[in-house]
Formats: sequence, structure tokens, C-alpha cells
Amino acid sequence: MADKRVAGLDAFKTNQEEKTIDTAKVLRVGIIGTGWIAGSHMQQYEKMPDVKIVALADIVPGKAKAFAEKWGLTDCTCYESHTAMLDSEELDAVSICTYNCTHAECTIYALEKGVNVLLEKPLCVTTEEAVDICRAEKKSGKILSIGFQPRCDANMKMVKKIVQSGELGQIYYIQTGGGRRKGIPTPFGTTFIEKETGGVGALGDIGCYSLDMVLNALGYPKPLTVSGYRSAFFGQNPEYFIAQGKPAEYASLFGVDDFGAGFIRLEGGIILDFRIAWAMHLDTPGDTIIMGTKGSLRIPSTDCWNGSIGGPLKIYHEVAGNSVCTEIPMLPSDGNKNFYDKIRLFLDAVKNGGTAPVPTSEILYNQAIIDGIVRSAELGHEIEIDIPEI
Ligand SMILES: NC(=O)c1ccc[n+]([C@@H]2O[C@H](COP(=O)([O-])OP(=O)(O)OC[C@H]3O[C@@H](n4cnc5c(N)ncnc54)[C@H](O)[C@@H]3O)[C@@H](O)[C@H]2O)c1
Repeated sequence: MADKRVAGLDAFKTNQEEKTIDTAKVLRVGIIGTGWIAGSHMQQYEKMPDVKIVALADIVPGKAKAFAEKWGLTDCTCYESHTAMLDSEELDAVSICTYNCTHAECTIYALEKGVNVLLEKPLCVTTEEAVDICRAEKKSGKILSIGFQPRCDANMKMVKKIVQSGELGQIYYIQTGGGRRKGIPTPFGTTFIEKETGGVGALGDIGCYSLDMVLNALGYPKPLTVSGYRSAFFGQNPEYFIAQGKPAEYASLFGVDDFGAGFIRLEGGIILDFRIAWAMHLDTPGDTIIMGTKGSLRIPSTDCWNGSIGGPLKIYHEVAGNSVCTEIPMLPSDGNKNFYDKIRLFLDAVKNGGTAPVPTSEILYNQAIIDGIVRSAELGHEIEIDIPEI
């Protein structure tokens, strides 16, 4: 019995072997939006001998050119709009690294031009935009993958493996979320906190990760109803920004949420209790827990959403009539490799005619929950989540 359990835990070990990259075909890649996350994409593209960055676009004049100079991209054309770039270039793939509110227009235009897309998370802002994106993707026949690098993390894969193994039995209740005590993201300006650029706040920025962790583990059951809440008590307070050494006027620009919560009914009779914070007077709004008829899983929370988890996973279950807790050893986690794999898996799918590693068929439900929380909070009551056929 003991041997079987050890063998079971060993099965969670990951295969860390690197694959050799076939350089026979070099992919012509463009980047739209040359802000912070574009640098992270560039850092990974640089390691890939089968990628040539041939075009950059940013609507801020001179920003794409400065990015090209910083990264030593001498043989690369810079544009001041995504349309100019996509109209002029023959590309195999594009990284869309713009702020949330322009995800839909840039993605749809790229797909219409027959370009495969790696789109940064969150998918977009509203369910309507998400549906338009999915329809454009379907019509184009191109690959569209969403930038959820935590999915590449060994411990995250383990969460899914445990749930899918049936060890927990039938899942009936999930609590997820997380947050930071003081972590409203304004590292290089206000694109995350203004309604016109960010669209949603903590809900979309880090909430999408918490939702993906549990929904992906469960196989993305469809969301049916949601009762949502959102607030902005920290973001709209000038004192918050002054204490952070930032301009007080950021508070008047703040047009999104710094806290959001939702009570969601999922297909299969599963309840999802979710809360997420960019700022709060609390260390954590709670660990993630997945409760099942045979066992429950605890995933310790972290304050930073790079795919890490806050400690070993714990399974609470019965063994030989005793209530026990089995601790699953933490696997080595490399945040940088997760970012590499996110891009590599997408490019491999492009090269080999595969499917999107993080498909919109799943993330559409993630977005519909976020948008559902926003709409329910506005209305002040529970609403049905209506997702049209794609
Ligand atoms: N996966 C991750 O870990 C991660 C981390 C940070 C940010 N992100 C996501 O990446 C996106 C961008 O974040 P950021 O921190 O780089 O923001 P940012 O504001 O630094 O950069 C966005 C850039 O997009 C440009 N832009 C906007 N619309 C454009 C358009 N139509 N055409 C060309 N350029 C356009 C802006 O001028 C800006 O330079 C956000 O959606 C964010 O959620 C993901």
C-alpha cells in the first residue's frame, strides 16, 4: 500500500527535457504593443533560433522604434498602428501585448489577415468581445492561444492531475482567488487602472489566473449564473498612491476595480466562490480549496500571480478509516521557463498544424465569469451567464 502511494507521488514528477528546435522553417513574427509584457515575449523569442522578429507596432509614436533599438532588432520595421503593420507584413504569427481594451480589435484584425495569434491575458474585457474574437478565430482557421503561462508550471499541472485522477471524487465546491495587500499595478503608467485602457481591474488582471487554475483542473465546466461584487476603495483614494510614492492624481484616473468577488454556479452542480484583490487590509482572502466527495485539495495562496503556489498542496481524505492529510511535495518551479513554454507551445502548434495550447473555447468561460461579475455588480443581483453559440 505504502509503495503504491509513493509510486503515485512519483508520477507527478515532470519531464524537464528540452526539445530541439527545428530551424528548417523560420517563423516571421510581429509584436503589437511594445510595453512591459512585450519585453517578456522578446526575452523568450531571443532564445528561439527559428523566430525572426520582423515587425513591431505601438500607437505611441517612437515607442516601437525605441523597443527595437533596446533589443537590437536591426532588421525590423516599426509601425504606429496594428492595422498598418498587418496590412504591410506577411507574418506567420503575432504576439498581441496591448492593454486589455484593444485585445479584441487587434486580435480580430490579425485573424482576418490570416495571422496566428498569441494574445496576452485576459482574453478581452466583455463577453461580447470574447464571442467576436472566437467567431473571427473560427472563420480564419488560424491558431489563437491566450497567454496563461501558469498553465505551464509543474505544480499547476499537478493540481489538474490530482483533480482529473478522481482522487477527490465528485467536485461540488471550489473557493479560489487571491491578491495583494498593496499591489495596484502602475509600474510604467496608468494603463491597468484606467477604464478606457484596462477595462477591468483586479478581476481581469489576476482574477483570470485564479479562475483558470481551478476551471482548467476541472475541464472548464460552463458557468451558468453569477452574483458579483466589485469595489475600488483603495484605487480611488489619493492617500494610497501617495503612500506608494505615486502621483495622487492616479486616484482620479482609477476607473476599474481593485477588489472583486463572485458566487458562480457551474454546470454539474458545482459552486465556485471567488474573490480577488489588488489591494486589501488582509494577507490573503484565502487559499484555493477544491472540495470533493472523496477528498479535498488545498492550494496555498500567493500574493503574486506568476504561476507559483504558496506551499505544498494538501489532500484531505480518508485512509483505512482515518481522516488524514497527504502533502504533495512541491515540484521545482521556474517562472521564466513558464513564459518560454507559453510561447514555444504556441509556435510549435503553428509550425506543426496543432491546436492552441490555451484555447479560446475554454477562456471564453473565464471571460464570461469576469464580465458576469461586472454586470451583476452593476445590477445588484444574480444574473444568468448567457454565452451565444460560436
Ligand atoms: N502574462 C503575464 O504575466 C502578463 C504580465 C503583464 C501584463 N500582461 C498583459 O499584457 C497586456 C499589456 O500589459 P503591459 O504591462 O505590457 O501594458 P503596457 O501599457 O506597458 O503596454 C501596452 C502597450 O500597448 C500599446 N497599444 C495599445 N493599443 C495598441 C494598438 N491598437 N496597436 C499597437 N499598440 C497598442 C500601448 O501604447 C502600450 O505601449 C495586458 O493585457 C496585461 O494583462 C500579462
